[in-house]
Formats: sequence, structure tokens, C-alpha cells
Amino acid sequence: MRVGFLQYSPVFGDKKGNLERVEEMLSGEKNALIVLPELCFTGYVFKDREELDTLAEEAVGPTVEYLTPIVKDNNLFLVFGMAERVGERLYNSSCLLSPEGEIKIYRKAHLFNKEKSFFTPGDTGFPVFDVTIGSNQVKVGLLVCFDWIFPEPWRILALKGAQIIAHSTNLVLPYCQDAMITRAIENRVFIITTNRMGEEREVTFTGRSQVVRPDGKILIRVGEESQGVWTVECDPLEAQNKMVTERNDIFQDRRKDLYRIEVK
Ligand code: ACM
Repeated sequence: MRVGFLQYSPVFGDKKGNLERVEEMLSGEKNALIVLPELCFTGYVFKDREELDTLAEEAVGPTVEYLTPIVKDNNLFLVFGMAERVGERLYNSSCLLSPEGEIKIYRKAHLFNKEKSFFTPGDTGFPVFDVTIGSNQVKVGLLVCFDWIFPEPWRILALKGAQIIAHSTNLVLPYCQDAMITRAIENRVFIITTNRMGEEREVTFTGRSQVVRPDGKILIRVGEESQGVWTVECDPLEAQNKMVTERNDIFQDRRKDLYRIEVK
């Protein structure tokens, strides 16, 4: 199955222009699961909640309307971050758009720094979605950026059967890309981490989007300044095998009896 990512630098506030740029970058891509960055059409560095509010939209809105013919014509599953409005609340969400135009949502659980002033923490839990491309049927989980520093959502998704975790990011700290090697090994899953690149309102993003295999091998990692779409062939069934030696199944060997803690 073909999977990959699109790394670029959105222009803050220019949703229409960013959609056109992404459409052009995706031209020629077919029959694949492609992951875009967090908040990849609005930009990230909001001055205040009002500014975010003017850029947010409902999940089924102009962004999904624009992308739907692209996924339909090219048999693409697209994962992308969006500022999602639900009534009075604004979520930092990740959307999975299918070639049929069906949309699934995960809302970022762990908000980073100033995001706490603008967004509501996610309420979706950690769902796993079925994706079919050609003869490949695969279970996909979605996470967003700072979720990386918490091992729990990755473990929950893996225990629920996720084979690929699509991780849309706007990373500013230098640790995540290397940390994802451990997350992949400890859960034996594929991880696609898509970061943006460039600078926005004096915040610099660290690029280096990547695809990591369940054994921690990096299938693709691009540079800090790279822009484009990269895809690679992967076999999601590799993520079914949780054995690290012939006697160690990392799920069966968990000592759940020792893991109970009471912390206030
Ligand atoms: C982040 O969560 N965007 C760092």
C-alpha cells in the first residue's frame, strides 16, 4: 500500500491559496494515503481567539468541499489538520477524507502552550478508522502534534488495532521526529509524522517529516526546508506482528497487574 506525506509552508490566513497550492502539489498522486500537517490551510500562530474564530469552519465546510473532487478523482485518502468549529467551541482537529468524500474526525487531546488559550481540548477519544485502498484494508489512527509526548494515546490506538498512525504536526521543538522511532518500536506500528516547514510570525517549524516502520526503521525522512510530496510502499500486515523475539510478544507480555497507580 502506498503511503506518504506532503510537507510545505502554508501562508497564514490564506485558506483558498493554500488549498490551491496543495492541489497543485498533489497532482499526479493516486491510490494512496497522504498525510498533511496540522492546521495546514489556516496557519498556526493565531494572535487571539477572534482571529482563529474567523478562520475556523465546521468539519463539513468549504475546505472539505474543495478537497472532495481531488480525493474522488484520484482515489486518495487525505489526512489534514483543520480548525474545526462545533457550536461555540473550536477544536484543533485532524480529518480523514475518503475517496467517497466521507469524513472522520479526531480532535487534538493534548493542547500545546498558547493553543490552550484558543482551542477546547478534544472530546473524541482515540478512534481507529478503516481504510481500503485497492486490495489493502488497513486500520488507521489519527493524532496531532503535541500528542507525541504522551505515550498513552499511541498505546491505546495500537491496542485498538491501528496499523498506521497518521500524525499531523506543526513542530517547533526538536525532539519529536526521533522520539517517534521509539513510539513505532514500542507499539509495532507504522507512523507517518507530517510537519510543516518555514516561519510564521517569528515561529520556526522544524520540517523533517517522516515515515517510520514498526521496527523503527525510517522509510523516508526529508529535510527541514524540503517542500513536496513523498510516498513509499508499505505492508500494513507487518504491524500485526508484535513479536520482538520468538518469546516476547510486546502486547501479551505487558504486566498489567503491576501498572496500576494512584496519582492525584
Ligand atoms: C504543537 O503541538 N503544535 C507543537
